[in-house]
Amino acid sequence: MPTKPHIPLDQIKAQVEGCRRCPLAETRTNVVFGDGNSNARVMIIGEAPGKNEDLQGSPFVGAAGKYLSELLAIAGLKREEVFIANVLKCRPPGNRDPRPEEIQTCTPFLREQTRTISPEFIVTLGNFSTKFILKTDTGITRLHGKLAMAGKFKVLPVYHPAAALYDSSKRIALEDDFATLGRLLAEGQQA
Ligand code: URA
Repeated sequence: MPTKPHIPLDQIKAQVEGCRRCPLAETRTNVVFGDGNSNARVMIIGEAPGKNEDLQGSPFVGAAGKYLSELLAIAGLKREEVFIANVLKCRPPGNRDPRPEEIQTCTPFLREQTRTISPEFIVTLGNFSTKFILKTDTGITRLHGKLAMAGKFKVLPVYHPAAALYDSSKRIALEDDFATLGRLLAEGQQA
């Protein structure tokens, strides 16, 4: 079966920036397309923009973002080396959970980003991105740290850094899982 050509990232970005497919377009300040290395070996997928991300138009710029940079360092990665995106591109008011219809409407963009970037690893942060990428109902507590496959992509589900900031047992697990990512990346490089 012939495969669909990949859409250049700047074209997907233009589509996302003009998107008015759901009511989140009415309340957003900025669309948060995602940023980083478009040839990344690792793509990180969070949940949705928060207040700071909405104001600045970039993912993970608040406290969770600072912690995410520390986690990436555990895996031997710099933020600029990876690509960071979210399930939703616009902030849900008051940081409420993404709604199923919002996820359904928005994720065609994430799917195209993933196809175009074509990373070796996808790290899913928390339940929403893990459920979407792995098409599972199993929760992150059971799945974190266990390598899975989604098509050709290696997927490592981990706790969401915002959830771990105030929960030391999650923090230990999350840091452990990023150490696992570092080992997996090093193994792949030797092969
Ligand atoms: N939490 C997320 O899931 N994504 C962001 O961009 C910021 C916080």
